[in-house]
Amino acid sequence: MTSTDLIQKDKKTFVPPAYLDDYEHALKGFDWNSIHKELEWFDKDHMNAAHNAVDRHTKTANRNKVAVIYESSSGKIEKYTYLDLKHQSNKFANVLTKLGIKKGERVFLFLPRIPEVYATFLGTLKIGAIASTLFSAFGEDALLDRLGHSKAKMVVTTPDLFKRLASIKDKLPDLTYVVLVSTDLIPQKEGLVSSVPILIDYKKEMLEASKNFTVVKTHAEDPAFLLYTSGSTGKPKGVVHAHMAILQQYYTHKMIHDVHPEDVYWCTADHGWVTGISYGILGPLANGGTILQYEGRFDPEIWYETLERHEVNIWYTAPTAIRMLMKAGLEVVKKYDFSHLRHIYSVGEPLNPEAIRWGMQAFKKPFHDTWWQTETGSMLIVNYPTMPIKLGSMGKPFPGITAAVLDHDGKEVSADVEGDLAIKRGWPSMMRTLWHDEERYKKLFKGDWYITGDRARKDSDGYFWYIGRADDVIKTSGERVGPFEVESVLVEHPAIAEAAVIGKPDELRGEIIKAFITLRAGFTPNPDLEEDIKKFVKQHLAAHAYPREMAFMDKLPKTRSGKIMRRLLKARELGLPEGDTSTLED
Ligand code: WT7
Repeated sequence: MTSTDLIQKDKKTFVPPAYLDDYEHALKGFDWNSIHKELEWFDKDHMNAAHNAVDRHTKTANRNKVAVIYESSSGKIEKYTYLDLKHQSNKFANVLTKLGIKKGERVFLFLPRIPEVYATFLGTLKIGAIASTLFSAFGEDALLDRLGHSKAKMVVTTPDLFKRLASIKDKLPDLTYVVLVSTDLIPQKEGLVSSVPILIDYKKEMLEASKNFTVVKTHAEDPAFLLYTSGSTGKPKGVVHAHMAILQQYYTHKMIHDVHPEDVYWCTADHGWVTGISYGILGPLANGGTILQYEGRFDPEIWYETLERHEVNIWYTAPTAIRMLMKAGLEVVKKYDFSHLRHIYSVGEPLNPEAIRWGMQAFKKPFHDTWWQTETGSMLIVNYPTMPIKLGSMGKPFPGITAAVLDHDGKEVSADVEGDLAIKRGWPSMMRTLWHDEERYKKLFKGDWYITGDRARKDSDGYFWYIGRADDVIKTSGERVGPFEVESVLVEHPAIAEAAVIGKPDELRGEIIKAFITLRAGFTPNPDLEEDIKKFVKQHLAAHAYPREMAFMDKLPKTRSGKIMRRLLKARELGLPEGDTSTLED
């Protein structure tokens, strides 16, 4: 390692708080139980995450503190205090209660990044119902899979997004209510008249509802939110998180992001993904912080303006976004003042050393990489603000987390040897089960170890290095896509007989989706067909989950039992050794 691969922290320019000063010290003897008292409990076992995110702060001077600064796509700025959030989430809890939504029932938010996300997410938790989110780019099949599998009772959405729901609602017998947060475009006028599900006017109901509500006494282990995420096989699985998760979201945000009371914090992730929930809602609110919620799309200049205008102090973003900023060049950066930025962080994909070096030039500070998953609920392996950064490493396990690299038999390997990245069972924000699939959940463990699905190595200093996925899960622009989901949509296209999908390394997006396709008789590959296939996948699955590249083949490599060998396609695509092909059909 050369000196340029290591960033030492300068304690003259950054004086760390005592708890961050010495990582090894923090690690020693840390016990999650010791921080229970930093939250409010009904009793020893009962606690509600929404109460801890919001209501708790309204008993202190924080009641009039700004909790959320919202900037709309058109640049309109609104501010919401902790008291506002308490009242709005109470109102929504009352609306849910009036409509008869019960504890444990599933309420989905299919919303853009707008303030209603806070009121509806937290209001759902307040009645003990389970909140789930849907990324606004999802198409019909993606919606149907998630809403159908979880037997969703309610979806909160906008009139515009409702159109995608309207075409599948008849296949969702449990969906009773659709709440429309605005009536600017009344669906009835567009021929979307519907008696089931019943359309509810959010504004009208919220106006009528009381701002007082007694938060339901949930058990800390009761499910609070459910997030569907992709695996390498089958349809997306529902990761279930308990109210207890907030304990770790709170503490990791405090310690790793090092938030101070006066900070403005911006998490660029959408609430459709776990980062947007753990570090866009629960963690920062539990700390009584001020969150910036930016509705607009990615654009380098607008992002820089946003960082500058709101004087963002702590910024949590993703490698793909950083690479896109790099592409826009350093010249643009010079126009802005980022002097208020104290720490910057990244999550979701490997963070290349170049990106950290570039960050040093652009923002005069390094991006800190953090590693975690939808399943883990909060950051587990991280670069602390005070730790020297080894460029390209994910960092070290957070206190209270035991991480290891295991061999096939579940035994820890020696330093610098590749293996399965595993975490010792028992951290507060660990998923509690997979929705209606306890069997599959159990298979994720080897004894006391949760096997993450990532391959990694640990060096002799205890730093972890990401190697890749152990399975076929694709990460494109930081978003997790299951090959099977894309393949299922592809074969619905009238021209396609068979399809196999892989992630192909891409400089900007980390990976892009590449599809290998055989066509039905009578169809021949051509650019129009390719365009049509892309459009088809976007409409059915999601705007981000379509194959950017396609290869048309006469036949796909299969095992003798008829399973398409994605691994072989990938090896051939990347020019890697083909490995064991003894099961190949011919
Ligand atoms: C997968 C989890 C939870 C945050 C958003 C992603 C990959 C995540 C890193 C990192 C290399 C990373 C892993 C992981 N990943 N962070 N710092 N370096 N890879 O959550 O969609 O559940 O994806 O993202 O492969 O297993 P997710």
